Amino acid sequence: MSLAIRAEHLRKVYPHSPAGVAALEDLNLDIPTGRVYGLIGRNGAGKTTFVRIAATQLAPTSGSLSVLGHDVMHEERGVRSRIACIPQESRPLYFLTVEEVVRLYLTMRGLDRVDARRRTRDALDELSLTEYAHRSVARLSGGLRRRTLCAMVLASDAEVLFMDEPTTGLDPIARRQVWEAIRRTSREHRTIVLTTHYLDEAESLSTRLALIEKGRLVLEGSPNDLRGRVRYPYRVTVYGAFSRPELEPYGRVSEVEGGLLVFTREAEARELARQALERGVRLSMGPVSLEDIFLDVVGRSIEEEAPAEEAET
Ligand SMILES: Nc1ncnc2c1ncn2[C@@H]1O[C@H](COP(=O)(O)OP(=O)(O)OP(=O)(O)O)[C@@H](O)[C@H]1O
Ligand SMILES: [Mg+2]
Repeated sequence: MSLAIRAEHLRKVYPHSPAGVAALEDLNLDIPTGRVYGLIGRNGAGKTTFVRIAATQLAPTSGSLSVLGHDVMHEERGVRSRIACIPQESRPLYFLTVEEVVRLYLTMRGLDRVDARRRTRDALDELSLTEYAHRSVARLSGGLRRRTLCAMVLASDAEVLFMDEPTTGLDPIARRQVWEAIRRTSREHRTIVLTTHYLDEAESLSTRLALIEKGRLVLEGSPNDLRGRVRYPYRVTVYGAFSRPELEPYGRVSEVEGGLLVFTREAEARELARQALERGVRLSMGPVSLEDIFLDVVGRSIEEEAPAEEAET
């Protein structure tokens, strides 16, 4: 497996941050080439900090990070020409049109004029921006500006693309167009590092994922690997006939619209299915989603850090 990115013992403490609080703490991560790699985690987990270090915009406090074999601190020129980045908060240049801003970005990256024109046209077409091609960026809605930024990096010839929340604020149709463009880009054996809070998006696009919590890596692997590492890899919903106390021994139970949801293990899921059949009750069953995994793992870490309630006297 060739590596697009390798982070070793990466640590970042921002200046003026409270004593001892690191945005990234001893982060080790290998990101393979030619795939979509998802970065997920709560607000403030350290995802953008990681992306900014990898994109040579920010220096780490200690540890190392290399992109395509080049160290970001000592060989940043070697890195910059091979990457493209949509930062979490950014706007394309206001005074240009959509077509100009994409084309200018490509020519600044060294593409010849003919190639830049062709790639711009294709990218605008792919993200349904052609009708806005000659509108100035200043007059675009927020979602259209974000789409223009996606078009810029997806049209580029970069080998590693950093997309920090590319679909935030996009309508459902535009989101799917960006997904398709991301899939197409990864089929060209380019690497996309995708940060997102939409876990359905992370799950459907990413070959592997990293869940970061408080600057530390807490889970890493393919969506299936992650399922194998949680307490309860199955979700079973029963609609009627079962009481909550009856289900408690099977796992974690919660109420949902019209039924009870149980997060459980495989053997227990089978047993529940058998009992539901016997009782003639409707049941739905399947592996947990990435969102379930996130809520379980991150939820537990929040519970663990909460101060224990004082015993009543
Ligand atoms: N420029 C900065 N100066 C000081 N602290 C910062 C700076 N940028 C980020 N931080 C802190 O570093 C930590 C990680 O922030 P980061 O932006 O990397 O999180 P994130 O995972 O991208 O969150 P979000 O999902 O909200 O975008 C947070 O505690 C944040 O407050
Ligand atoms: Mg962020």
